[in-house]
Amino acid sequence: MGLYSALARPLLFRFQPETAHRFGEYALRASPLWSALRPMLSTSDKRLETTVAGIKFPNPVGVAAGLDKDCRFLPGLLDIGFGFATGGTVTRDARPGNARPRVIREPGQRALLNALGFLGEGLDAAESRLRKLSDEQRKRIMVSISGTEVDDIAECHRRLQPLVAALEVNVSSPNTAGLRTFHQPDNLGRLVTALVEQQDRPLCVKLPPWRSDEERNEMMPMARASLEAGADGLVIANTRPTEDDRLAVGRGGLSGAPLFEDTLRMVADARQELGSEFALIACGGIGAADHVWRLLEAGASAIQLYTAFIYEGPGLPGRVNRDLVKRMESAGLNSLPSGGG
Ligand SMILES: Cc1cc2nc3c(=O)[nH]c(=O)nc-3n(C[C@H](O)[C@H](O)[C@H](O)COP(=O)(O)O)c2cc1C
Repeated sequence: MGLYSALARPLLFRFQPETAHRFGEYALRASPLWSALRPMLSTSDKRLETTVAGIKFPNPVGVAAGLDKDCRFLPGLLDIGFGFATGGTVTRDARPGNARPRVIREPGQRALLNALGFLGEGLDAAESRLRKLSDEQRKRIMVSISGTEVDDIAECHRRLQPLVAALEVNVSSPNTAGLRTFHQPDNLGRLVTALVEQQDRPLCVKLPPWRSDEERNEMMPMARASLEAGADGLVIANTRPTEDDRLAVGRGGLSGAPLFEDTLRMVADARQELGSEFALIACGGIGAADHVWRLLEAGASAIQLYTAFIYEGPGLPGRVNRDLVKRMESAGLNSLPSGGG
């Protein structure tokens, strides 16, 4: 058992999830510490290099949106060995989020339930923090943007794109009233077109998950509308909408281990249905090299994770990457399975 599982996690889990998150954030902001630990924690092996929408990342294991909503500790996340990190979701204006309780841990399932809503300090704060990153760091940063109005999202896109490698537009948070307007393919197409017109960085659209045929019939047209309007890729997917009375608003999004099989199924489905020409970032329930490997084989270009990091701590990205290298060696391969895009 590692230091995190034996000591840090039991201590952090004595606090409310949002308080524990703040402690974790302070720790990850201690940049010199993580730079010094970088050789121990991260793995630099050329065989792990991964290209997503034309951008080269040192490995396929990325941080999902929401972990660093206000772009405060992205360099720390890169130093501990993630190949790339996604800041945000950033909205134009600061937002307080939903009423509490709004995050619940489900340790038995290695899962979280959250109904944070778009909680954050807004565009000005994110922009000024991203400005402080070095060029080297920026090459490995994505930023997630959203809002309920095309103009607001376009402003986030215009101001943040010079500061990052790629952007992701989130139209899939289950916790934000007003976002469903972009579940209409025409509206989503108009949004993506507006962003593509001012685009000089790759743009991905983060979709909601689908389980039933009815949901699939809603999400596939969203995926198609995004790609036809010029998006470079898709992030599949966001949390699973779930009703739960322990949350003040009565419903939220489930994340973590219970999502993995759905993620695998959706990635294979999307690749089969939509072709191999777009970047596909898999997200949901990923926490081990075997997950990453199977997703790459199923058609993912790279992966993002959040909840497994809360349960496994800062050793996770290095461990996953080292295990990917071992897997390549035992399969006699010099590169990772190629998912396309
Ligand atoms: C507390 C919390 C906050 C999140 N906030 C965001 C967010 O701001 N934007 C977004 O696109 N996804 C957000 N997500 C969803 C994650 O990016 C990811 O899609 C989801 O958690 C599934 O991945 P995981 O199982 O690895 O956590 C959030 C997830 C959690 C648990």
